[in-house]
Amino acid sequence: MKIFDNKVAVVTGAAQGIGKAIAQRLAEQGALVVIWDVQTEKAEETVKAFKTQGWRASAFTDIDITDLVSTEQVARQVIEAYGQVDILVNNAGIIQDATLKKMSAKTWQQVIDVNLTGVFNCTRAVVPHMIERKSGNIISISSVVGLFGNFGQTNYVAAKAGVAAMTKTWALELGKYQIRVNAIAPGAIDTAMLAGIPEEAKAKFLERIPLGRVGKPQDIANACSFLASEEASFITGQTLVVDGGNYLG
Ligand SMILES: NC(=O)c1ccc[n+]([C@@H]2O[C@H](COP(=O)([O-])OP(=O)(O)OC[C@H]3O[C@@H](n4cnc5c(N)ncnc54)[C@H](O)[C@@H]3O)[C@@H](O)[C@H]2O)c1
Repeated sequence: MKIFDNKVAVVTGAAQGIGKAIAQRLAEQGALVVIWDVQTEKAEETVKAFKTQGWRASAFTDIDITDLVSTEQVARQVIEAYGQVDILVNNAGIIQDATLKKMSAKTWQQVIDVNLTGVFNCTRAVVPHMIERKSGNIISISSVVGLFGNFGQTNYVAAKAGVAAMTKTWALELGKYQIRVNAIAPGAIDTAMLAGIPEEAKAKFLERIPLGRVGKPQDIANACSFLASEEASFITGQTLVVDGGNYLG
């Protein structure tokens, strides 16, 4: 018996990177994993690779998480197809960096739409179903920069701080339905998102990480699996920092 046997987990942005590692961790522990991503080909490749391991997975790529109606439609399709959603992982995210002086309204809005409104929409879409079942588990991927700010990331830090704050609000509202709501604040994690950062800048932030390395997507997947499991059954409203000791409050 695996810990997520008979569970259905929706993971947004799981075609690659941290989301893919989270989906893999949940699938190998028995969950049927449903990927919501805009990259059709990559999402389908991921599903295929999971299935060859004997894990259960499917992808829904005709979704716009920035639009509540579209998100609700896909949530309905998933519930019709699989009967339930036990775990929602709000992982999809983008960056569009610029200093405040140079940040356009469009760039501000694009990041807010995906990283903040997207988390609201996906959660809003599945929560009536979770309330009805009086059970559910919501985990959103924030970021340490939402806790301490970051040069050139006004839009991103606003969204990530918002995710941590919504997590507390939802824990307050949904606890009575036995729905737990938590967030993870990763530090620097080795994915495509990090690849664009110049080597000099990477060396600088490595100096500030006591454990002396950047994180792996699996480090976040392990934390997510713990929060989604019964071992975390008395934990809600928290943002778990997973960053090698970079942010110590
Ligand atoms: N990599 C890091 O250092 C780091 C640090 C802290 C937080 N995070 C957060 O972790 C999450 C995953 O980041 P990553 O590094 O794996 O990034 P990534 O760019 O490798 O993957 C992001 C995934 O999200 C998907 N996505 C983007 N927009 C979407 C949309 N509108 N709808 C559905 N899917 C969409 C992409 O297609 C992609 O598969 C993000 O929320 C990111 O902000 C990353």
